Amino acid sequence: MRLKSRKYLSICLVLFLLWQTSCDNKNRLPDNVTFTEHIAPVLYANCTQCHRPGGGAHFNLITYADAKNYGASLAFVTRERMMPPWPADPHYTEFAGEKVMSEHDIRLIEKWVADGMAEGDAAKLPKMPDYPIGSLVGKPDMRIKVEPYYLSANSYDKFLLVKVPYELPSDTYVSLVEFMPGNGNAVHHVNGDLVKYEFDKKKNVMEGERIVDMVNDSTIKQAYEKLKLANDDGTYPVLQKSVVNYLPGTYGQIYPEGIGGYTLPRKGVFLLNDLHYGFTKDKAIWDSSYINLFFSKTAPDRPVQEFQLGTIGISPVEPDLVIQPNTEKKVLSKFTIANDISVLTVNPHMHLLGKSFKAYALQPNGDTIRLISIPKWDFNWQYFYTFKKMVKIPKGSTIVAEGVYDNTKKNLNNPFSPPRLVRDNNGSMKATDEMFQFIITYLPYKQGDENISLEVKR
Ligand code: HEC
Repeated sequence: MRLKSRKYLSICLVLFLLWQTSCDNKNRLPDNVTFTEHIAPVLYANCTQCHRPGGGAHFNLITYADAKNYGASLAFVTRERMMPPWPADPHYTEFAGEKVMSEHDIRLIEKWVADGMAEGDAAKLPKMPDYPIGSLVGKPDMRIKVEPYYLSANSYDKFLLVKVPYELPSDTYVSLVEFMPGNGNAVHHVNGDLVKYEFDKKKNVMEGERIVDMVNDSTIKQAYEKLKLANDDGTYPVLQKSVVNYLPGTYGQIYPEGIGGYTLPRKGVFLLNDLHYGFTKDKAIWDSSYINLFFSKTAPDRPVQEFQLGTIGISPVEPDLVIQPNTEKKVLSKFTIANDISVLTVNPHMHLLGKSFKAYALQPNGDTIRLISIPKWDFNWQYFYTFKKMVKIPKGSTIVAEGVYDNTKKNLNNPFSPPRLVRDNNGSMKATDEMFQFIITYLPYKQGDENISLEVKR
């Protein structure tokens, strides 16, 4: 008996060693890590989407010289998982287009830097992926210019209301309206609606001013008058909300045919509600942003719907979002849904005091559906996270969002030193006021939704 078990043990040991070496082979790093053979493919798969001209980041990571220039920082930001930016915990839930590097690739960069950053054989350099020009999604069918805007040096926090009128040959289905910043370093965010004029209610959509500075100039009513948004008879047309949105690092989402999208009337206006420019530093700039339209063959028969928990949403923040100086505070917001829904995207939103965020749904049968966990909140990367496949949440489930805020001086993003009392302020988007929101885009559930893939090839 004893002998037998020993034999058994030694077989196990041999198997274990075999298994380990095979794993090691897969994970083993090459002796000579070179840029052309090993590093370029990693950068092209994980970094150049943003670190290229027009990609949003202010420096390129394309050539050997680019990479060598940033050498040690590349190793640092990837090891710390600061880059590529992906604050969501990939072990909690998976999303389409996840930007998460493998441990192997992180170690490759470390070794390359430690070994002196060899260039390698030029013939081994792969081709950089083809990126669409002037779009983060693909080749648009039409482009509409936003009125260029001049920002003087050292100007910051401009909130503009901008009218972007268009005319098309006929009413047109579009799958996506994409906002592209002219100057990605200046444009901070955009939330834009579609002004839907009924047939012949407005002869000339082009009339009126194009830009109103909301901080200095106007009330909303005065602004609408300046932009001449009303119908010819003085009544106001319907606004379709949130048709064109932009945040750095987010991408317009094209869903499978028939899902999402809009019908654009022949004549209309995109109304950019709060084209927000951040800080311009010591250089004056002109911003020439534009809007890309992607046409679709099919009518949008399942328009995407949206609700939000928390600040100015359908459920209160509990307890109130009042964060005393030198404290941490945990809040939550919860809402029970009356019908089955299919979730497409989730978007957690907090400002600079955010520390962590988590959301899930509790089903009537007691089971939990995980939605998202962000262990280390990052104000700069607030994606609309798209699930790989739609997630069904059955009626009667309670969606719970939990947030933790850090209003101590340990929080390096704290806008006040020493810390001050910070609270929500009627949905104020100023970074120095706080917010707690969880935005869900969804469709009323249809059988089979959970099998529809939302992953798009780009
Ligand atoms: C989704 C877009 C995106 C991706 C993908 C991305 N970056 Fe970045 N990266 C940025 C932005 C934006 C900044 C902020 C600085 C700026 O404005 O350029 C930045 C900053 C950096 C910095 C400077 C950090 C500092 O201290 O200022 C480094 C280094 C960097 N990225 C490396 C990488 C590497 C390496 C990869 C791939 C493994 C990568 N990035 C992927 C957008 C991205």
